[in-house]
Amino acid sequence: MYNTTAGLRQAFLDFFADKQHQIVASSSLVPGNDPTLLFTNAGMVPFKDVFLGAESRPYTRATSSQRCVRAGGKHNDLENVGYTARHHTFFEMLGNFSFGDYFKQDAMSFAWEFLTKELKLPEHKLLVTVYESDGEAFDYWNKVIGVPAEKIIRIGDKSADKKYESDNFWSMGDTGPCGPCSEIFYDHGEHIWGGPPGSPEEDGDRFIEIWNLVFMQFNRTADGVMHPLPKPSVDTGMGIERISAIMQGVHSNYEIDIFQNLIKAAAELLNVTDLENKSLRVIADHIRSCSFLIVDGVMPSNEGRGYVLRRIIRRAIRHGNKLGASDLFFHLLVKTLVKEMGAAFPELTQKQAIVEKMLRIEEVQFAKTLERGLALLESSLAELKGTVIPGELVFKLYDTYGFPADLTADIAREKELTINEEAFDAEMAAQRKMSQAASGFGADYNDQVKSEHESVFKGYDNLEYSATVVELFKNGESVTELSDGEEGIVILDNTPFYAESGGQSGDHGVLDNDVAQFTVTDTQKVGNAIGHYGKIIGSLTVNARVNAQIDAARRDAIKQNHSATHLLHAALRTVLGDHVGQKGSLVEADKFRFDFSHYEGVTAAQLQQAERLVNEQIQQNHDLTTDLMQIDAAKEKGAMALFGEKYDDEVRVVSMGPSSIELCGGTHVSRTGDIGLCKIISEAGIAAGIRRIEAVTGMAAIEALHQTDNTVNTVASLLKADTSSLVEKVEQTLSRNKTLERELRQLKEKMASQQGSDLTKHVTEIAGVKCLIANLESVDPKSLRGMIDELKNKLGSVVIMLAAVNDDKVSLIAGVTKDLIGKVKAGDLVNHVASQVGGKGGGRPDMAQAGGTQPENVDTALASVSAFLTEKLS
Ligand code: ALA
Repeated sequence: MYNTTAGLRQAFLDFFADKQHQIVASSSLVPGNDPTLLFTNAGMVPFKDVFLGAESRPYTRATSSQRCVRAGGKHNDLENVGYTARHHTFFEMLGNFSFGDYFKQDAMSFAWEFLTKELKLPEHKLLVTVYESDGEAFDYWNKVIGVPAEKIIRIGDKSADKKYESDNFWSMGDTGPCGPCSEIFYDHGEHIWGGPPGSPEEDGDRFIEIWNLVFMQFNRTADGVMHPLPKPSVDTGMGIERISAIMQGVHSNYEIDIFQNLIKAAAELLNVTDLENKSLRVIADHIRSCSFLIVDGVMPSNEGRGYVLRRIIRRAIRHGNKLGASDLFFHLLVKTLVKEMGAAFPELTQKQAIVEKMLRIEEVQFAKTLERGLALLESSLAELKGTVIPGELVFKLYDTYGFPADLTADIAREKELTINEEAFDAEMAAQRKMSQAASGFGADYNDQVKSEHESVFKGYDNLEYSATVVELFKNGESVTELSDGEEGIVILDNTPFYAESGGQSGDHGVLDNDVAQFTVTDTQKVGNAIGHYGKIIGSLTVNARVNAQIDAARRDAIKQNHSATHLLHAALRTVLGDHVGQKGSLVEADKFRFDFSHYEGVTAAQLQQAERLVNEQIQQNHDLTTDLMQIDAAKEKGAMALFGEKYDDEVRVVSMGPSSIELCGGTHVSRTGDIGLCKIISEAGIAAGIRRIEAVTGMAAIEALHQTDNTVNTVASLLKADTSSLVEKVEQTLSRNKTLERELRQLKEKMASQQGSDLTKHVTEIAGVKCLIANLESVDPKSLRGMIDELKNKLGSVVIMLAAVNDDKVSLIAGVTKDLIGKVKAGDLVNHVASQVGGKGGGRPDMAQAGGTQPENVDTALASVSAFLTEKLS
């Protein structure tokens, strides 16, 4: 059982399941919600948040066989593929994980037990490394497990200023969980060149690292700071291909079962007899990464993950060409891969067809330029002086012939040359700048697109239709071809795609054939033709045949919403009256909007009644019928038409149940029951006499109800009530709040009045008149008026100027007793101060208030009041 890769995979998982580890299925190569990472590059990636303490799982021990890609990003092995016995772009990592459960010692014991007891590897063939300063790991290997000291190698940081960059300090990327590690190596024997880790010959293939035990202790953040993890944890990784090689008694990973069958299949397709050929290995490696990337939703493109995929595909195709490939071959290997790995990865079997297709399109595409690019490279190399291929040539190969830079570098390496990467990067940067400048003209060409063709809509009865391309547009211009990566519009003779009209949103989907996959993200009328808007992988020419397929799930949601719009229209007429007429509608996949004429707000009870009528019609599950008839006959039948809309002589009439009959070109459910449920989510006026209802149907309606449920439940739990007593509890809380507010106000007034009496101490005299000028800091503005009255009563004849600051707002109030208003008016006084604190105010001569926005100027402004009053009162 250990001598097949599949048997070994199962044995590993079973071993750790026996040790209370949860077996977890491999996740996608595209890490969910992790923008720091291009691809899943280690078994621990799906558990990142568990290590960080941000996610909890129902287990503290796990084991998995995780598919990984190391091509691009921090861990990149692309360049080594084909040159060593042990590097891959795609591999499977066996791992066991502890989330704050066991730590270092158990991790070491488990690994040793699996290797020496379960797989029965001879102990003398193994050696280990530990992080330089990890004395604990050293002692445990030595004293407890019994590894001789000379077989335990301490590995330090690569250089003093690159702390934590050691081979024995593992991190998944520039940020994230990390920690010191201890690696187990296998000695393949003296007959193979290479030295132990840390020696000058370590890059040889004799001593091969098979298992890495990481003692996760830190989270490294973008600033480089290492934060201790909530709990020390364990992450281990063992490449299944390497341990398989040992168990199958071979030295190179490429000699194990899964690779041998892929290599044989490639050799047969390419007519090669030497199974050791390096290019065959590259191809066998690359078919695995490319297929699984497509399985996980990555599509070839010119940026990001899609470009990494394209680079690997092109590298494989070039190696095929090197072996003399005269025809497409790469996509034909998918079949063998499915045979080898489909049982362990059912998603591969399910997506076999799309994987084959995408790879085929890429092959066809690259075949067009590969030969010419290679010829250019050959002739340029003949004249090359030195050993560095100039960046300009690398760029020309990239730009004109689609050679990724690493592909040129791969060819260069075979000829013992290198490429000038810096000059290539500079060319790339210059090109980016130019294309940005060009796109600055930003005209929306699509607005001007007009086609003379006519398309026939086949989408009432078909979700899919085989059609011919009759016209293509790029940047608003009619063209004969759309090539890879371009955006444009495709016009077909027949199409199941509904072009946006009558409020119903245009279909999405795919137009494809053997050499093209055009993803449609919108459908619009272009003259009398139907325009499919989107982006292409591969290429498409006029007259090409394509299979046009709409996104059926999205169309279903649109149909539910469209039919519900008709039912709502009829229901509103019943509830509100016959004056209700449709003024517009928008039918999308996630909701619909219905605008109608009505002179006043619709009450909650009316809305509920309309909603009930709609759902009654849904539950009665009426057949929906469509008839083509003469416009007059339709009107006679009572079909509702939009006022002011022009109709053809022959019209399409859609009827559902007893009350809904409308002229409509849209797509609909077959029976009203298909709508499932309709829920109104809002109603509002949008213009004089026009109201708008928004509603949802089907699962979206259930979602809306769940959301309301969740809100109610959250409020109930915050108030510590159950939902049945919620209203009562809210009423009680509000009334208690009112009481508390009243009590608080009274208290504040009381305090203010006390402060008021204290203030009398600060009275000064100006020109023989009592004046009181004070900054009360944070007194509630509402209390200020009361204070003025109180102070006037107490002091008899007085001029008062008070300020207070609350939440950065200044409140000012001035009071002047009647006997003094001939000399100074409260309004003038308050404005004198207000103008200095960014405000303005007014009021009666005996009392005036103002506000202000500059609390920092209050004291200076009040200080100027003495002079102001001296002038007025003298
Ligand atoms: N995460 C560790 C590695 O990839 C086990 O080597």
